[in-house]
Amino acid sequence: MPRTKVLIIDDEKLVRWSLQQKLTREGYEVESAPTGEEGLNLIREDGYDLVLLDLRLPGMDGVEVLQEIRKLEKEIGVVMLTADTGLAKAVECVRLGAHNYLTKPFEFDQVKVALEKAREDTKLRREVTRLRRQQRRQFSLENLVGQSPALRALREMLGKIAESDATSVLIEGENGTGKELAAQAIHYGSARANQPFMAINCSAIPENLIESELFGHERGAFTDAKTTKKGLFELADGGTVLLDEIGDMQPILQAKLLRVLESRQFYRIGGTQPITVDVRVIAATNKNLEDAVNHGEFRQDLYYRLKVIAVRMPELRSLAEDIPILARHYLRQFAEEYGKPVKQLAEDAAKVLAAYAWPGNVRELRNVIERLVILEQAPVIGAEQLPADLRRPGKPASRSLIELPATGVALVDVERELVRQAMERAGENQSHAAALLGLERDALRRRLIKYGYLTSHAPEVSVARC
Ligand SMILES: Nc1ncnc2c1ncn2[C@@H]1O[C@H](COP(=O)(O)OP(=O)(O)OP(=O)(O)O)[C@@H](O)[C@H]1O
Ligand SMILES: [Mg+2]
Repeated sequence: MPRTKVLIIDDEKLVRWSLQQKLTREGYEVESAPTGEEGLNLIREDGYDLVLLDLRLPGMDGVEVLQEIRKLEKEIGVVMLTADTGLAKAVECVRLGAHNYLTKPFEFDQVKVALEKAREDTKLRREVTRLRRQQRRQFSLENLVGQSPALRALREMLGKIAESDATSVLIEGENGTGKELAAQAIHYGSARANQPFMAINCSAIPENLIESELFGHERGAFTDAKTTKKGLFELADGGTVLLDEIGDMQPILQAKLLRVLESRQFYRIGGTQPITVDVRVIAATNKNLEDAVNHGEFRQDLYYRLKVIAVRMPELRSLAEDIPILARHYLRQFAEEYGKPVKQLAEDAAKVLAAYAWPGNVRELRNVIERLVILEQAPVIGAEQLPADLRRPGKPASRSLIELPATGVALVDVERELVRQAMERAGENQSHAAALLGLERDALRRRLIKYGYLTSHAPEVSVARC
Protein backbone atom coordinates (compact mmCIF):
# COMPACT_ATOMS: atom_id res chain seq x y z
CA MET A 1 0.00 0.00 0.00
CA PRO A 2 1.41 3.45 -0.83
CA ARG A 3 2.36 5.49 2.20
CA THR A 4 0.08 8.34 3.19
CA LYS A 5 1.65 11.64 2.13
CA VAL A 6 1.42 14.53 4.55
CA LEU A 7 2.37 18.16 4.00
CA ILE A 8 2.99 20.43 6.98
CA ILE A 9 2.52 24.14 6.32
CA ASP A 10 3.73 26.14 9.31
CA ASP A 11 6.03 29.14 9.63
CA GLU A 12 7.55 27.88 12.91
CA LYS A 13 10.57 25.84 12.07
CA LEU A 14 10.48 23.92 15.32
CA VAL A 15 6.89 22.80 14.78
CA ARG A 16 7.70 21.67 11.24
CA TRP A 17 10.79 19.84 12.32
CA SER A 18 9.29 18.03 15.31
CA LEU A 19 6.10 17.01 13.47
CA GLN A 20 8.09 15.79 10.49
CA GLN A 21 10.29 13.62 12.73
CA LYS A 22 7.43 12.07 14.61
CA LEU A 23 5.13 11.53 11.67
CA THR A 24 7.92 9.93 9.63
CA ARG A 25 8.46 7.56 12.51
CA GLU A 26 4.74 6.71 12.36
CA GLY A 27 5.14 5.64 8.74
CA TYR A 28 3.88 8.76 6.97
CA GLU A 29 5.74 10.29 4.05
CA VAL A 30 6.19 13.89 5.16
CA GLU A 31 7.23 17.18 3.61
CA SER A 32 6.90 20.71 4.86
CA ALA A 33 6.67 24.32 3.77
CA PRO A 34 7.08 27.57 5.74
CA THR A 35 4.49 29.61 3.79
CA GLY A 36 1.10 29.07 2.20
CA GLU A 37 2.40 29.96 -1.25
CA GLU A 38 5.18 27.36 -1.11
CA GLY A 39 2.82 24.81 0.32
CA LEU A 40 0.34 25.35 -2.51
CA ASN A 41 3.07 24.95 -5.11
CA LEU A 42 4.02 21.62 -3.61
CA ILE A 43 0.37 20.52 -3.57
CA ARG A 44 -0.12 21.51 -7.21
CA GLU A 45 2.99 19.65 -8.31
CA ASP A 46 2.60 16.62 -6.17
CA GLY A 47 -0.29 14.63 -4.77
CA TYR A 48 -0.79 14.83 -1.02
CA ASP A 49 -3.33 12.96 1.02
CA LEU A 50 -3.28 15.18 4.07
CA VAL A 51 -2.25 18.71 4.99
CA LEU A 52 -1.52 20.07 8.46
CA LEU A 53 -2.17 23.75 7.96
CA ASP A 54 -1.28 26.56 10.34
CA LEU A 55 -3.91 29.26 10.50
CA ARG A 56 -1.53 32.19 11.00
CA LEU A 57 1.03 32.40 8.29
CA PRO A 58 3.04 35.22 6.82
CA GLY A 59 1.59 36.22 3.43
CA MET A 60 -1.43 34.10 2.59
CA ASP A 61 -3.13 32.96 5.77
CA GLY A 62 -4.47 29.50 6.49
CA VAL A 63 -8.04 30.32 5.45
CA GLU A 64 -6.92 31.48 2.01
CA VAL A 65 -4.69 28.44 1.57
CA LEU A 66 -7.57 26.16 2.53
CA GLN A 67 -9.82 27.82 -0.05
CA GLU A 68 -7.19 27.37 -2.72
CA ILE A 69 -6.79 23.70 -1.82
CA ARG A 70 -10.54 23.18 -2.12
CA LYS A 71 -10.56 24.88 -5.52
CA LEU A 72 -8.16 22.22 -6.80
CA GLU A 73 -10.96 19.70 -6.30
CA LYS A 74 -8.54 17.07 -5.12
CA GLU A 75 -9.84 15.18 -2.15
CA ILE A 76 -7.18 16.26 0.35
CA GLY A 77 -7.75 16.00 4.08
CA VAL A 78 -6.91 19.24 5.90
CA VAL A 79 -6.32 19.62 9.64
CA MET A 80 -5.94 23.19 10.87
CA LEU A 81 -3.43 24.19 13.54
CA THR A 82 -4.27 27.23 15.62
CA ALA A 83 -3.54 29.11 18.79
CA ASP A 84 -6.38 29.74 21.26
CA THR A 85 -6.98 33.17 19.83
CA GLY A 86 -7.79 31.80 16.39
CA LEU A 87 -10.53 29.46 17.55
CA ALA A 88 -13.43 31.21 15.82
CA LYS A 89 -11.50 31.21 12.59
CA ALA A 90 -10.62 27.55 12.93
CA VAL A 91 -14.30 26.72 13.30
CA GLU A 92 -14.95 28.77 10.17
CA CYS A 93 -12.31 26.63 8.42
CA VAL A 94 -14.24 23.48 9.26
CA ARG A 95 -17.23 25.05 7.59
CA LEU A 96 -15.05 25.74 4.56
CA GLY A 97 -14.05 22.11 4.30
CA ALA A 98 -11.25 21.46 6.79
CA HIS A 99 -11.73 18.14 8.57
CA ASN A 100 -10.68 19.22 11.98
CA TYR A 101 -8.53 21.61 13.98
CA LEU A 102 -5.98 21.36 16.79
CA THR A 103 -5.26 24.10 19.30
CA LYS A 104 -1.64 24.79 20.09
CA PRO A 105 0.04 23.53 22.15
CA PHE A 106 -1.05 20.01 21.31
CA GLU A 107 0.06 16.52 22.15
CA PHE A 108 1.40 14.40 19.34
CA ASP A 109 -1.28 11.79 20.01
CA GLN A 110 -3.92 14.38 19.15
CA VAL A 111 -2.19 14.99 15.84
CA LYS A 112 -2.18 11.29 15.11
CA VAL A 113 -5.87 10.91 15.87
CA ALA A 114 -6.84 13.99 13.85
CA LEU A 115 -4.79 12.85 10.84
CA GLU A 116 -6.16 9.34 11.04
CA LYS A 117 -9.75 10.66 11.05
CA ALA A 118 -9.05 13.01 8.17
CA ARG A 119 -7.45 10.14 6.25
CA GLU A 120 -10.47 7.88 6.73
CA ASP A 121 -12.78 10.69 5.75
CA THR A 122 -10.74 11.49 2.65
CA LYS A 123 -10.68 7.85 1.65
CA LEU A 124 -14.46 7.70 1.86
CA ARG A 125 -14.87 10.93 -0.07
CA ARG A 126 -12.57 9.71 -2.80
CA GLU A 127 -14.58 6.52 -3.02
CA VAL A 128 -17.83 8.49 -3.23
CA THR A 129 -16.40 10.75 -5.94
CA ARG A 130 -15.26 7.71 -7.91
CA LEU A 131 -18.63 6.00 -7.58
CA ARG A 132 -20.49 9.15 -8.56
CA ARG A 133 -18.38 9.58 -11.63
CA GLN A 134 -18.99 5.95 -12.50
CA GLN A 135 -22.73 6.34 -11.94
CA ARG A 136 -22.87 9.45 -14.08
CA ARG A 137 -21.26 7.49 -16.89
CA GLN A 138 -23.38 4.44 -16.31
CA PHE A 139 -26.63 6.38 -16.37
CA SER A 140 -25.82 8.99 -18.97
CA LEU A 141 -28.03 9.83 -21.94
CA GLU A 142 -25.70 7.85 -24.19
CA ASN A 143 -27.20 4.73 -22.67
CA LEU A 144 -30.34 5.42 -24.62
CA VAL A 145 -29.05 3.72 -27.73
CA GLY A 146 -30.49 4.55 -31.14
CA GLN A 147 -29.95 6.85 -34.08
CA SER A 148 -33.51 7.37 -35.34
CA PRO A 149 -34.83 10.93 -35.40
CA ALA A 150 -37.27 9.99 -32.62
CA LEU A 151 -34.50 8.76 -30.35
CA ARG A 152 -32.24 11.69 -31.07
CA ALA A 153 -35.11 14.04 -30.27
CA LEU A 154 -35.76 12.09 -27.09
CA ARG A 155 -32.15 12.39 -25.92
CA GLU A 156 -32.19 16.09 -26.69
CA MET A 157 -35.42 16.59 -24.79
CA LEU A 158 -34.17 14.63 -21.77
CA GLY A 159 -30.96 16.65 -21.81
CA LYS A 160 -32.90 19.89 -21.74
CA ILE A 161 -35.10 18.67 -18.93
CA ALA A 162 -32.02 17.65 -16.95
CA GLU A 163 -30.52 21.11 -17.33
CA SER A 164 -33.75 22.95 -16.63
CA ASP A 165 -34.33 21.62 -13.13
CA ALA A 166 -38.08 21.59 -13.75
CA THR A 167 -39.33 20.18 -10.49
CA SER A 168 -41.81 17.71 -11.88
CA VAL A 169 -41.63 15.55 -14.96
CA LEU A 170 -43.98 12.93 -16.36
CA ILE A 171 -42.62 10.01 -18.37
CA GLU A 172 -45.22 7.96 -20.21
CA GLY A 173 -44.59 4.85 -22.23
CA GLU A 174 -45.35 1.19 -22.65
CA ASN A 175 -43.58 -1.48 -20.63
CA GLY A 176 -39.90 -1.78 -21.34
CA THR A 177 -39.55 1.42 -23.37
CA GLY A 178 -36.87 2.78 -21.05
CA LYS A 179 -38.80 5.01 -18.66
CA GLU A 180 -36.54 4.21 -15.74
CA LEU A 181 -33.46 4.65 -17.89
CA ALA A 182 -34.75 8.07 -18.95
CA ALA A 183 -35.44 9.07 -15.35
CA GLN A 184 -31.91 8.09 -14.34
CA ALA A 185 -30.44 10.00 -17.27
CA ILE A 186 -32.36 13.11 -16.19
CA HIS A 187 -31.10 12.82 -12.64
CA TYR A 188 -27.47 11.99 -13.40
CA GLY A 189 -27.30 14.61 -16.12
CA SER A 190 -28.58 17.34 -13.81
CA ALA A 191 -27.05 19.55 -11.15
CA ARG A 192 -28.65 17.13 -8.68
CA ALA A 193 -26.37 14.28 -9.78
CA ASN A 194 -24.41 14.24 -6.53
CA GLN A 195 -27.54 14.01 -4.44
CA PRO A 196 -29.69 10.90 -4.05
CA PHE A 197 -31.82 9.33 -6.75
CA MET A 198 -34.56 7.29 -5.11
CA ALA A 199 -37.16 5.24 -6.89
CA ILE A 200 -40.35 3.73 -5.57
CA ASN A 201 -42.80 1.55 -7.41
CA CYS A 202 -46.27 2.68 -6.40
CA SER A 203 -47.87 -0.59 -7.48
CA ALA A 204 -45.42 -2.89 -5.70
CA ILE A 205 -45.86 -1.53 -2.18
CA PRO A 206 -49.01 -2.27 -0.17
CA GLU A 207 -51.32 0.72 -0.04
CA ASN A 208 -51.12 1.07 3.72
CA LEU A 209 -47.33 1.34 3.67
CA ILE A 210 -46.75 3.66 0.79
CA GLU A 211 -47.60 6.89 2.58
CA SER A 212 -45.04 6.19 5.27
CA GLU A 213 -42.51 5.14 2.62
CA LEU A 214 -42.96 8.48 0.89
CA PHE A 215 -43.37 10.86 3.79
CA GLY A 216 -42.05 8.96 6.81
CA HIS A 217 -43.63 8.74 10.22
CA GLU A 218 -43.12 9.90 13.78
CA ARG A 219 -42.56 7.45 16.59
CA GLY A 220 -45.90 6.10 17.79
CA ALA A 221 -47.85 7.43 14.80
CA PHE A 222 -49.33 3.93 14.45
CA THR A 223 -48.89 0.58 16.18
CA ASP A 224 -45.79 -0.52 14.27
CA ALA A 225 -44.13 2.87 14.31
CA LYS A 226 -41.56 2.05 16.98
CA THR A 227 -39.13 4.72 15.85
CA THR A 228 -39.24 7.88 13.80
CA LYS A 229 -38.60 7.14 10.15
CA LYS A 230 -37.71 9.46 7.33
CA GLY A 231 -39.59 9.00 4.10
CA LEU A 232 -38.27 8.99 0.56
CA PHE A 233 -38.90 12.68 0.03
CA GLU A 234 -36.77 13.57 3.02
CA LEU A 235 -34.01 11.12 2.17
CA ALA A 236 -33.84 12.37 -1.40
CA ASP A 237 -33.63 16.03 -0.39
CA GLY A 238 -31.62 17.89 -3.00
CA GLY A 239 -32.01 15.00 -5.43
CA THR A 240 -34.69 13.20 -7.39
CA VAL A 241 -37.58 10.89 -6.54
CA LEU A 242 -38.91 8.54 -9.22
CA LEU A 243 -42.52 7.58 -8.60
CA ASP A 244 -42.88 4.58 -10.86
CA GLU A 245 -46.34 3.37 -11.92
CA ILE A 246 -47.88 6.59 -10.66
CA GLY A 247 -51.12 5.52 -12.34
CA ASP A 248 -51.58 3.01 -9.52
CA MET A 249 -51.32 5.55 -6.74
CA GLN A 250 -54.42 5.88 -4.53
CA PRO A 251 -56.40 9.11 -4.85
CA ILE A 252 -55.69 10.19 -1.25
CA LEU A 253 -51.96 10.00 -1.87
CA GLN A 254 -52.36 11.72 -5.22
CA ALA A 255 -53.81 14.68 -3.35
CA LYS A 256 -50.92 14.69 -0.88
CA LEU A 257 -48.42 14.46 -3.69
CA LEU A 258 -49.98 17.43 -5.44
CA ARG A 259 -49.63 19.44 -2.25
CA VAL A 260 -45.95 18.51 -2.00
CA LEU A 261 -45.36 19.51 -5.60
CA GLU A 262 -46.99 22.84 -5.02
CA SER A 263 -45.72 23.78 -1.59
CA ARG A 264 -42.52 21.69 -1.35
CA GLN A 265 -43.74 20.80 2.13
CA PHE A 266 -45.26 17.81 3.83
CA TYR A 267 -45.77 16.25 7.24
CA ARG A 268 -44.51 12.89 8.43
CA ILE A 269 -47.41 10.65 9.45
CA GLY A 270 -48.27 11.76 12.97
CA GLY A 271 -46.02 14.80 12.58
CA THR A 272 -46.93 18.38 13.43
CA GLN A 273 -43.92 20.15 11.93
CA PRO A 274 -44.00 20.76 8.20
CA ILE A 275 -40.87 19.49 6.47
CA THR A 276 -39.55 21.46 3.53
CA VAL A 277 -37.62 19.66 0.82
CA ASP A 278 -36.11 20.36 -2.54
CA VAL A 279 -36.72 17.33 -4.72
CA ARG A 280 -37.43 16.84 -8.36
CA VAL A 281 -40.27 14.40 -8.85
CA ILE A 282 -40.27 12.21 -11.91
CA ALA A 283 -43.50 10.28 -12.33
CA ALA A 284 -43.54 7.34 -14.71
CA THR A 285 -46.46 5.34 -15.98
CA ASN A 286 -47.36 2.79 -18.61
CA LYS A 287 -51.02 3.66 -18.29
CA ASN A 288 -52.71 6.32 -20.32
CA LEU A 289 -53.18 8.87 -17.55
CA GLU A 290 -55.56 10.95 -19.58
CA ASP A 291 -57.91 7.97 -19.83
CA ALA A 292 -57.47 7.34 -16.13
CA VAL A 293 -58.51 10.96 -15.52
CA ASN A 294 -61.55 10.51 -17.76
CA HIS A 295 -62.53 7.42 -15.81
CA GLY A 296 -62.14 9.20 -12.50
CA GLU A 297 -59.17 7.05 -11.47
CA PHE A 298 -56.56 9.76 -11.52
CA ARG A 299 -56.85 13.31 -10.23
CA GLN A 300 -57.11 15.82 -13.00
CA ASP A 301 -55.28 18.56 -11.08
CA LEU A 302 -52.30 16.28 -10.43
CA TYR A 303 -52.31 15.15 -14.05
CA TYR A 304 -52.18 18.75 -15.27
CA ARG A 305 -49.43 19.57 -12.80
CA LEU A 306 -47.33 16.61 -13.96
CA LYS A 307 -48.11 17.09 -17.62
CA VAL A 308 -46.37 20.48 -17.83
CA ILE A 309 -43.16 18.68 -18.70
CA ALA A 310 -44.08 15.34 -20.21
CA VAL A 311 -42.01 12.86 -22.17
CA ARG A 312 -43.47 10.07 -24.24
CA MET A 313 -41.14 7.12 -24.69
CA PRO A 314 -41.51 5.75 -28.22
CA GLU A 315 -42.57 2.14 -28.69
CA LEU A 316 -39.81 0.00 -30.14
CA ARG A 317 -41.95 -1.00 -33.13
CA SER A 318 -41.99 2.66 -34.19
CA LEU A 319 -38.18 2.75 -34.20
CA ALA A 320 -37.57 0.15 -36.90
CA GLU A 321 -34.18 1.59 -37.87
CA ASP A 322 -32.96 1.41 -34.26
CA ILE A 323 -33.87 -2.22 -33.76
CA PRO A 324 -30.76 -3.68 -35.48
CA ILE A 325 -28.60 -1.04 -33.78
CA LEU A 326 -29.97 -2.03 -30.39
CA ALA A 327 -29.63 -5.73 -31.21
CA ARG A 328 -25.95 -5.29 -32.11
CA HIS A 329 -25.43 -3.16 -29.00
CA TYR A 330 -26.77 -5.98 -26.84
CA LEU A 331 -24.82 -8.64 -28.77
CA ARG A 332 -21.67 -6.75 -27.80
CA GLN A 333 -22.73 -6.05 -24.25
CA PHE A 334 -23.73 -9.63 -23.42
CA ALA A 335 -20.70 -11.09 -25.21
CA GLU A 336 -18.57 -9.03 -22.86
CA GLU A 337 -20.67 -9.93 -19.84
CA TYR A 338 -20.49 -13.67 -20.52
CA GLY A 339 -16.92 -13.60 -21.83
CA LYS A 340 -17.86 -14.84 -25.30
CA PRO A 341 -16.88 -13.69 -28.80
CA VAL A 342 -19.20 -11.06 -30.29
CA LYS A 343 -21.70 -12.59 -32.73
CA GLN A 344 -22.63 -10.92 -35.99
CA LEU A 345 -26.21 -10.16 -36.93
CA ALA A 346 -27.01 -11.17 -40.51
CA GLU A 347 -29.15 -8.87 -42.63
CA ASP A 348 -32.08 -11.31 -42.87
CA ALA A 349 -32.17 -11.55 -39.07
CA ALA A 350 -32.02 -7.76 -38.76
CA LYS A 351 -35.05 -7.56 -41.06
CA VAL A 352 -37.02 -10.07 -39.01
CA LEU A 353 -36.23 -8.18 -35.83
CA ALA A 354 -37.19 -4.85 -37.40
CA ALA A 355 -40.53 -6.26 -38.58
CA TYR A 356 -41.56 -7.78 -35.25
CA ALA A 357 -44.01 -5.87 -33.05
CA TRP A 358 -42.04 -6.03 -29.76
CA PRO A 359 -44.89 -5.76 -27.27
CA GLY A 360 -42.30 -5.82 -24.48
CA ASN A 361 -40.23 -3.16 -26.25
CA VAL A 362 -36.49 -2.80 -25.57
CA ARG A 363 -36.62 -5.11 -22.55
CA GLU A 364 -37.99 -7.90 -24.74
CA LEU A 365 -35.33 -7.32 -27.39
CA ARG A 366 -32.64 -7.31 -24.72
CA ASN A 367 -33.91 -10.63 -23.32
CA VAL A 368 -34.02 -12.22 -26.77
CA ILE A 369 -30.44 -11.20 -27.47
CA GLU A 370 -29.22 -12.32 -24.06
CA ARG A 371 -30.70 -15.78 -24.71
CA LEU A 372 -29.03 -15.92 -28.11
CA VAL A 373 -25.65 -15.00 -26.66
CA ILE A 374 -25.95 -17.70 -24.02
CA LEU A 375 -27.48 -20.52 -26.04
CA GLU A 376 -26.58 -20.04 -29.68
CA GLN A 377 -23.37 -21.57 -30.94
CA ALA A 378 -23.22 -20.07 -34.44
CA PRO A 379 -20.98 -17.01 -34.79
CA VAL A 380 -23.51 -15.33 -37.11
CA ILE A 381 -27.15 -14.90 -36.14
CA GLY A 382 -29.33 -15.49 -39.20
CA ALA A 383 -33.12 -15.41 -39.39
CA GLU A 384 -33.34 -19.15 -38.67
CA GLN A 385 -31.52 -18.69 -35.35
CA LEU A 386 -34.25 -16.36 -34.09
CA PRO A 387 -37.12 -17.67 -31.96
CA ALA A 388 -40.13 -18.73 -34.05
CA ASP A 389 -42.40 -16.13 -32.40
CA LEU A 390 -40.41 -13.32 -33.91
CA ARG A 391 -40.82 -14.63 -37.40
CA ARG A 392 -44.55 -14.03 -37.29
CA PRO A 393 -44.49 -10.26 -37.44
CA GLY A 394 -47.33 -8.32 -35.94
CA LYS A 395 -48.60 -11.29 -33.94
CA PRO A 396 -46.77 -11.26 -30.68
CA ALA A 397 -47.41 -14.50 -28.87
CA SER A 398 -46.76 -13.05 -25.47
CA ARG A 399 -49.53 -10.47 -25.21
CA SER A 400 -53.02 -10.13 -26.57
CA LEU A 401 -54.26 -6.91 -28.07
CA ILE A 402 -56.98 -6.32 -25.52
CA GLU A 403 -57.34 -8.03 -22.22
CA LEU A 404 -60.71 -9.36 -21.11
CA PRO A 405 -61.58 -7.77 -17.74
CA ALA A 406 -61.88 -10.27 -14.88
CA THR A 407 -65.61 -9.57 -14.61
CA GLY A 408 -66.23 -10.03 -18.35
CA VAL A 409 -67.53 -7.38 -20.71
CA ALA A 410 -70.34 -6.90 -23.22
CA LEU A 411 -68.80 -7.07 -26.70
CA VAL A 412 -71.08 -4.36 -27.91
CA ASP A 413 -69.67 -1.95 -25.29
CA VAL A 414 -66.15 -2.66 -26.49
CA GLU A 415 -67.14 -1.93 -30.06
CA ARG A 416 -68.93 1.27 -29.08
CA GLU A 417 -65.94 2.48 -27.10
CA LEU A 418 -63.43 1.67 -29.86
CA VAL A 419 -65.57 3.45 -32.43
CA ARG A 420 -65.69 6.50 -30.18
CA GLN A 421 -61.92 6.43 -29.62
CA ALA A 422 -61.21 6.01 -33.32
CA MET A 423 -63.37 9.01 -34.16
CA GLU A 424 -61.70 11.06 -31.48
CA ARG A 425 -58.20 10.13 -32.60
CA ALA A 426 -59.09 10.78 -36.22
CA GLY A 427 -60.29 14.27 -35.37
CA GLU A 428 -63.78 13.06 -36.37
CA ASN A 429 -62.71 12.32 -39.88
CA GLN A 430 -64.75 9.23 -40.82
CA SER A 431 -62.35 7.87 -43.45
CA HIS A 432 -59.42 8.06 -41.05
CA ALA A 433 -61.41 6.55 -38.23
CA ALA A 434 -62.55 3.72 -40.52
CA ALA A 435 -58.92 3.05 -41.46
CA LEU A 436 -57.93 2.88 -37.79
CA LEU A 437 -60.54 0.17 -37.27
CA GLY A 438 -59.81 -1.70 -40.50
CA LEU A 439 -63.33 -0.97 -41.80
CA GLU A 440 -64.78 0.46 -44.97
CA ARG A 441 -66.24 3.93 -44.44
CA ASP A 442 -69.79 2.62 -44.89
CA ALA A 443 -69.25 -0.06 -42.31
CA LEU A 444 -68.10 2.60 -39.88
CA ARG A 445 -71.10 4.80 -40.69
CA ARG A 446 -73.45 1.89 -39.94
CA ARG A 447 -71.86 1.58 -36.52
CA LEU A 448 -71.96 5.32 -35.89
CA ILE A 449 -75.69 5.17 -36.56
CA LYS A 450 -76.10 2.07 -34.43
CA TYR A 451 -74.45 3.72 -31.44
CA GLY A 452 -76.35 6.94 -31.86
CA TYR A 453 -73.39 9.11 -32.89
CA LEU A 454 -75.05 9.72 -36.23
CA THR A 455 -78.65 9.77 -37.34
CA SER A 456 -79.37 7.80 -40.51
CA HIS A 457 -80.06 10.90 -42.57
CA ALA A 458 -77.46 13.22 -41.08
CA PRO A 459 -74.40 13.61 -43.28
CA GLU A 460 -72.03 14.81 -40.57
CA VAL A 461 -71.29 13.50 -37.19
CA SER A 462 -70.80 14.78 -33.73
CA VAL A 463 -69.21 12.57 -31.19
CA ALA A 464 -70.57 12.42 -27.72
CA ARG A 465 -68.76 10.82 -24.85
CA CYS A 466 -70.39 7.63 -23.71
N1 LIG B 1 -32.98 3.21 -25.92
C1 LIG B 1 -32.46 2.23 -25.16
N2 LIG B 1 -31.19 1.87 -25.31
C2 LIG B 1 -30.64 0.89 -24.58
N3 LIG B 1 -31.29 0.23 -23.64
C3 LIG B 1 -32.59 0.54 -23.43
C4 LIG B 1 -33.24 1.56 -24.17
N4 LIG B 1 -34.51 1.65 -23.73
C5 LIG B 1 -34.64 0.73 -22.78
N5 LIG B 1 -33.50 0.06 -22.57
C6 LIG B 1 -33.29 -1.07 -21.65
O1 LIG B 1 -34.49 -1.80 -21.62
C7 LIG B 1 -34.75 -2.31 -20.32
C8 LIG B 1 -36.07 -1.77 -19.81
O2 LIG B 1 -35.95 -0.39 -19.57
P1 LIG B 1 -36.68 0.31 -18.33
O3 LIG B 1 -36.67 -0.58 -17.14
O4 LIG B 1 -36.11 1.67 -18.20
O5 LIG B 1 -38.15 0.38 -18.95
P2 LIG B 1 -39.50 0.87 -18.29
O6 LIG B 1 -40.18 1.68 -19.31
O7 LIG B 1 -39.22 1.48 -16.97
O8 LIG B 1 -40.29 -0.50 -18.13
P3 LIG B 1 -41.53 -0.87 -17.16
O9 LIG B 1 -42.73 -0.14 -17.66
O10 LIG B 1 -41.67 -2.34 -17.33
O11 LIG B 1 -41.13 -0.47 -15.79
C9 LIG B 1 -33.57 -1.88 -19.48
O12 LIG B 1 -32.65 -2.93 -19.44
C10 LIG B 1 -33.02 -0.69 -20.22
O13 LIG B 1 -31.65 -0.54 -19.95
MG1 LIG C 1 -39.88 0.89 -15.09
